[in-house]
Amino acid sequence: MAMADRLIPVFPTTIFHRRLDGMDQVNAQLIAFLAQLRTTEPSAADGTTTEGGYQTPDDLLNRDHPAIAALRDHIGGAVRDYANHVIRQECTRMPGKVDFVMWGWAVCYKAGDLQGIHVHPNANISGVYYVTAPPATLEKGDAGKISFYDPRPRANMNQLAFQATRHRQAPVPGDMFLFPSWLEHSVSPFQGEGMRICIAFNAKLLME
Ligand SMILES: [Fe+2]
Repeated sequence: MAMADRLIPVFPTTIFHRRLDGMDQVNAQLIAFLAQLRTTEPSAADGTTTEGGYQTPDDLLNRDHPAIAALRDHIGGAVRDYANHVIRQECTRMPGKVDFVMWGWAVCYKAGDLQGIHVHPNANISGVYYVTAPPATLEKGDAGKISFYDPRPRANMNQLAFQATRHRQAPVPGDMFLFPSWLEHSVSPFQGEGMRICIAFNAKLLME
């Protein structure tokens, strides 16, 4: 008698990728705004996993600036769509109401700067939007790329041949990635010219 086989993915980890088209002008405004902030406000990178580089405080999305306002709308829309997916994936039933609070900050990396492996405490959904990417990120290898690590610690204990233990993404201006806040990630340094500018964000879901 033939039995019906079934594959049951339990506890999957899902990253959300959205490419925003037509962001050239917003990105140019963000570059100029962040260049101005670098001269007027000290880096908030101290005590974080940002090594080198310039980091703004995490109130960036509240600043009164047209490019920030445009980006805030895009981030809010992506958080809403991804939250819907995450809730479907993770919860035993849909809540009656879903709202969220959101905050974000920019990180500007030059050659040699990096981000150590970390998670985002006090949030449910985290993400990153890329404003600029240096040429080195187009090469093979880790340069300037974000790595997400397998969150199943026991999966690393006795590995299969060619076991994938991390997922890597190159930054592309206009790209956005959203992921669970508990998912460990890091950013590798790059060499050469250019700057890697990203806007990172957190969302705390409020569900009833
Ligand atoms: Fe992060």
